[in-house]
Amino acid sequence: MKVGVLTGGGDCPGLNAVIRSVVRKGVQEYGFDFVGLRDGWLGALQGQVVPLGIADVRGILPRGGTILGSSRTNPLKHEDGVLRVRDTLAAHEVDALVVIGGEDTLGAAEELSRHGVKLVGVPKTIDNDVVGTDSTFGFDTAVGIATEAIDRLHTTAESHMRTLVVEVMGRHSGWIALHAGVAGGANVILVPERPFDIDQVCAWVRSRFRTHYAPIVVVAEGAKPKEGQMVLKDRTLDEYGHVRLSGIGEWLAQEISQRTGSDARTTVLGHVQRGGTPSAFDRWLATRFGLHAVDAVKKGDFGTMTALRGTEIVRVPLTEARGRTKQVDPSLYDEFSVFFG
Ligand code: F6P
Repeated sequence: MKVGVLTGGGDCPGLNAVIRSVVRKGVQEYGFDFVGLRDGWLGALQGQVVPLGIADVRGILPRGGTILGSSRTNPLKHEDGVLRVRDTLAAHEVDALVVIGGEDTLGAAEELSRHGVKLVGVPKTIDNDVVGTDSTFGFDTAVGIATEAIDRLHTTAESHMRTLVVEVMGRHSGWIALHAGVAGGANVILVPERPFDIDQVCAWVRSRFRTHYAPIVVVAEGAKPKEGQMVLKDRTLDEYGHVRLSGIGEWLAQEISQRTGSDARTTVLGHVQRGGTPSAFDRWLATRFGLHAVDAVKKGDFGTMTALRGTEIVRVPLTEARGRTKQVDPSLYDEFSVFFG
């Protein structure tokens, strides 16, 4: 059997660990051959197929990024996209695919699966917002990076007695903001799921100053004020219909400064959260996802994705994840309100 592997969407730490795991088990235990499709669905459309053997995956476990490249190409938005993907697979005698991606890439996978493409999905994203799995790999690393940044910002904020606003990633969901904010001892945590009241934020900031501490405000890029809109970097839509976010941190610092008459600065963590070596947990989860994905291929359990449920890896239908994002539960967010202000 020949299996193609692709990584699509925004990259995240742990992608290479999945590729390595899939190839190692597939070759050693099942005698499969592998190829890689370059740059996500783009390679499938354009026929960019590269060899992928044991030697190619040696040493990649701790490496961030993806040796296969990635893109936000949506094959369903291209003329004859389904046909072109099928032609590429046929031309290279690829029997099945392992598709490693987030909500968008896996959504396209689900559609292609309906059109008869044999594939198994593996959920990834630093945002942790894929429905159907308790966690995605990449998230733990991103939270670790954001937490370390918040720890560092505490000391400089206190030296100058100013507010530091930390903008983290999270388009539709505030998982990174919530986890890193709690772990880093933030005084205000703002998530997309809960539009915020700027007067309340400023009240929390003032209260923090009154106790002679410098406020740390952690905000997800997709958070928005109750009265107002998400702040966009760019209105152009990608092939999945997403705009580019970022700017809410800067907006908040200006508002806090003006309304409280105190100094405020912003740090935007951006792609630092996606780069570099994966945490031990993400290597573990990515490796397990890879092993189970190749088992699914062997068993012919197509149209599914691997998922973490408790400590078990299970398979769930790709339909479960399609078109939805996993949001922060309001009651979970409220658990931490005692730390605000
Ligand atoms: O992959 C998810 C994500 O990191 C989001 O949190 C963020 O909004 C987006 O990707 C940024 O994408 P890009 O790499 O295209 O700037």
